[in-house]
Amino acid sequence: MKHQKAHHDLLEEFRKAVVTGLSAPRKEVSCKFLYDERGSALFERICELEEYYPTRTEMGLLQHYSRDIARRMGPGCRLVEFGSGSTRKVRILLEALERPACYLPVDISREHLLAQARLLAFDYPDLAVLPICADFTQSFALPRLESGAGATLGFFPGSTIGNFTPAQARDFLSRTARLLGPKGAMLVGVDLRKAPEILHAAYDDREGVTAEFNLNLLARINRELDGDFDLAAFRHRARWNDEDSRVEMHLESRHGQTARACGHDFSFAAGETIHTENSYKYSVEGFRRLAREAGFATEKTYVDDAGLFSLHLLRPV
Ligand code: AVI
Repeated sequence: MKHQKAHHDLLEEFRKAVVTGLSAPRKEVSCKFLYDERGSALFERICELEEYYPTRTEMGLLQHYSRDIARRMGPGCRLVEFGSGSTRKVRILLEALERPACYLPVDISREHLLAQARLLAFDYPDLAVLPICADFTQSFALPRLESGAGATLGFFPGSTIGNFTPAQARDFLSRTARLLGPKGAMLVGVDLRKAPEILHAAYDDREGVTAEFNLNLLARINRELDGDFDLAAFRHRARWNDEDSRVEMHLESRHGQTARACGHDFSFAAGETIHTENSYKYSVEGFRRLAREAGFATEKTYVDDAGLFSLHLLRPV
């Protein structure tokens, strides 16, 4: 029953976002709706693409520097992961940390969270795995620390922070600084500014997986909101917006048309777009500044040799 209610609430949230977003003068739908089951599977494929450098570069940084991070954190630390995508990255940290006390993955999607937690608990029988089903973009609480417990390390990989606006990223980080406490630390993966050609290839790959990921939003509207979008009448667009330092994903209407969903008609002029995602890219200094404004000092920044991606170890001040 509870599960059905959650499903109903999510559907209602999606319906509202689509009706409001497609009725606006500049059409948009939040990127969080890209991740239904099919969208999540497509995103996993994106992470394996030659052109999509962030995943392998961040994994390389973790492999290279996890012992240094572990030494800085000390023994017995609690590891809190914001979002629980694949467990590949957190496993590298868990291998390096000295006797981690527990692992607390935080995610809004209960089924995915519990499935990933079960996998980890099986592979690390001595580790307490305590999943927390919560929306980490809102306030939530961690279990109380036992006296003598080690530090708390927050982990937010993948440059998911880049899908927030800088103001949202600042809010998220300042809430996190309070959550982790004065002994805590935060490890954040942040994608860096770079040549637009590299970014364009990463967000518009040759195989068309990113296009399929983006167009799946319309397929999801058709499936869940009784829509009749013609997917062939829209094309995937990835644009570098230098002024705002972000890659934007859009769905562009190939010609003038009207589509129906949730009992409403939505008209599109030729070339009009639905803005579906922002992926902000930072300079190392720019991200440090944002973290400072949110109440964190940067203890260490790790960057790969090609300067593509960064991992920031932050301490609340
Ligand atoms: C999840 N997020 C960090 C990805 C990104 O790079 O912004 C989502 C993505 N969109 C297109 N490709 C990947």
